Amino acid sequence: MSLLATDLAGVPLANPVVLAAGTCGYGPEVADFMDPAAIGAVTTKSITVESREGHPPWRMIDVPGGMINAIGLANLGLERFRVEKVPALAAMKTVAIGSIAGHSIADYVAMATAFEAIEALPIVELNVSCPNTADGRQFGHDPRALASLLAEVRPALERTRLLVKLAPDAPDPIAMAAAAVEAGADGLTIANTWPAMAVDVDSRKPRLSSGRGGLSGPAVHPLAVRLVDAVFRAVAGPAKVPIIGLGGVLHWRDAAEFVLVGASAVGIGTALFVDPRIPRRVITGLERWVRQQGCGNIRELVGQVEA
Ligand SMILES: Cc1cc2nc3c(=O)[nH]c(=O)nc-3n(C[C@H](O)[C@H](O)[C@H](O)COP(=O)(O)O)c2cc1C
Repeated sequence: MSLLATDLAGVPLANPVVLAAGTCGYGPEVADFMDPAAIGAVTTKSITVESREGHPPWRMIDVPGGMINAIGLANLGLERFRVEKVPALAAMKTVAIGSIAGHSIADYVAMATAFEAIEALPIVELNVSCPNTADGRQFGHDPRALASLLAEVRPALERTRLLVKLAPDAPDPIAMAAAAVEAGADGLTIANTWPAMAVDVDSRKPRLSSGRGGLSGPAVHPLAVRLVDAVFRAVAGPAKVPIIGLGGVLHWRDAAEFVLVGASAVGIGTALFVDPRIPRRVITGLERWVRQQGCGNIRELVGQVEA
């Protein structure tokens, strides 16, 4: 068996590297820059029932240590996604994770029901943590609101595994993780972008059209490592629920850190804008690391950081 072969909530992956929601289009676009079969899984951008234009430019800006985006969940909407994107997604030789966003429980349930019927999507990721919409965040900050959402969404997903993507700035991220796991989440993605802002000092205006956005990239990596460590120890480790560690992975060492603090898989987002060859390099580096650590498979290293 390969050194990196693993599984995510029971779905086999060739390796633990997952391309993050919103950073590789709807999924099939990945084939423009790499062999999809080389990647563990690809996440679609978050899809909503109705199409969304998102925010006007500027909606992505460079800042030291990363970028701030406020795309505003621009997407084709469910119907066009199904007709225009799913056939190519189904033909891809990798695992596809369907990301869902919404404004109400009814929206999320409608999306979950639709994705359950799309065989090309064995896993669904619930985005309850987008910092860039006015009303999409309540489920990401309040454990009781998240529990009520999952009480409706979980029964709609029988075949499909359910991941919940947490907000890094929730008042109590451990309580959010516990609420997700208790309500039947099969895995946690940790985390979405971190609320942020940048100002143009000449015009004295915010640099993003929407004023505020979410920070991603190397600047957030140590923060995300700490969050994965805390959630793994308190919730996911004891419950044996897998985590996708996500935030600022540029180098294989960043990915290995996530694995050691408890991530079963590792997401890559912003790095794709730096150099789309990075996922391939991370995979090669992880392979060498597993061998050097004297292990037969990367799963042996999950959560193995010394206290
Ligand atoms: C341009 C851009 C668009 C994003 N769109 C989404 C999205 O649609 N849904 C979502 O759950 N996360 C979205 N994210 C967040 C990423 O999936 C990821 O959680 C975050 O960027 C941290 O990882 P990174 O530092 O590797 O980029 C987006 C991030 C970026 C940079």
